[in-house]
Amino acid sequence: MKKLFPSYVRVPLIFAFVFGALEYFIDSGDRPAFIKFPMVALFLVVFLFLLVAIEIVVSAVDRVTYHMLTDEQRKQLEEAQSVSFADSKWVQNLMKKMTRSKSIEQEADVMLDHDYDGIKELDNVLPPWWVNLFYATIIFGVIYLVRFHVMDEYTQAQEYDQEVAAANIEIEKNKLNSPKEEITFDKVTLLTDAESLAKGKEIYTNACAACHKADGGGIVGPNLTDDHWINGGGIKNVFKLIAEGSKNNPTMVGWAKTLGTKEVQKVASYVLSLQGTKPAGAKAAEGEKWVEEAAPSTDAATVTDSTKVAVK
Ligand code: HEC
Repeated sequence: MKKLFPSYVRVPLIFAFVFGALEYFIDSGDRPAFIKFPMVALFLVVFLFLLVAIEIVVSAVDRVTYHMLTDEQRKQLEEAQSVSFADSKWVQNLMKKMTRSKSIEQEADVMLDHDYDGIKELDNVLPPWWVNLFYATIIFGVIYLVRFHVMDEYTQAQEYDQEVAAANIEIEKNKLNSPKEEITFDKVTLLTDAESLAKGKEIYTNACAACHKADGGGIVGPNLTDDHWINGGGIKNVFKLIAEGSKNNPTMVGWAKTLGTKEVQKVASYVLSLQGTKPAGAKAAEGEKWVEEAAPSTDAATVTDSTKVAVK
């Protein structure tokens, strides 16, 4: 019989199977078992080494025996090896056992004497694979009946409740691991601590500087360092615009999904910390001048749009 797989398929296949089994059965938390437990990695290396060694030894033995065979025996061996897997004796026997089908020559033995316009009927036995499957379902049915209808072990409703309870525990655990407080428009405040501003600056440099320039002077996007705002100034408006993007200009996309609202708060605070820095080569001011409501301007004349001030 031909070998089912060549060795360069067999070795990786066996190795992958053992590797998968180890990862499945060893509880190693969030990291793969072979990283968390060095012994597992060691075992895998030794196992792979042995697999390859066995293959080499077996094929060497094969080659040596082949040389010792007589011509007659070699011919027999080659004949045996030329038979494919499906034609092999073992598979043929198995098929016969599972189906108990009669060969065409023996059909006369099971022929019934019914004859419908020349269509004849054979009285074959039921194929054992099917009959055994049928018996298995009966056994399954009896066990099921006794467990759930006689002994009332548990109901589907209880099973459901248990799973929901287990899932709720998982949810609580996840909440503890990553306290993900969302910042909203109403809650957002200007951050002034150095750590938050440093984080904000880092995000700004990576994500925003391409359009707003590293110093905030503006390129594609407007100047962020002056006191004029297209979409309204102050932490709330700036936060909202960075989180949701600009409705006037789709080039400025919303960042809440990518960064998370906490990070948007930091970068918004950083942007506002650039106010009045007057970088060289900055773009001209765009939009309306913004005056904080909380700090009323002493110079009323600078308020160009009084409605903007009131509407926050
Ligand atoms: C692809 C280019 C681009 C990127 C990247 C970009 N912006 Fe903008 N941004 C713009 C444009 C264009 C506008 C003008 C929107 C408008 O006219 O409403 C704008 C507007 C703004 C405004 C409002 C300005 C005003 O006057 O109302 C703020 C604040 C802002 N961006 C902050 C950021 C921050 C923070 C980032 C990084 C997280 C960022 N932008 C990334 C292009 C960009």
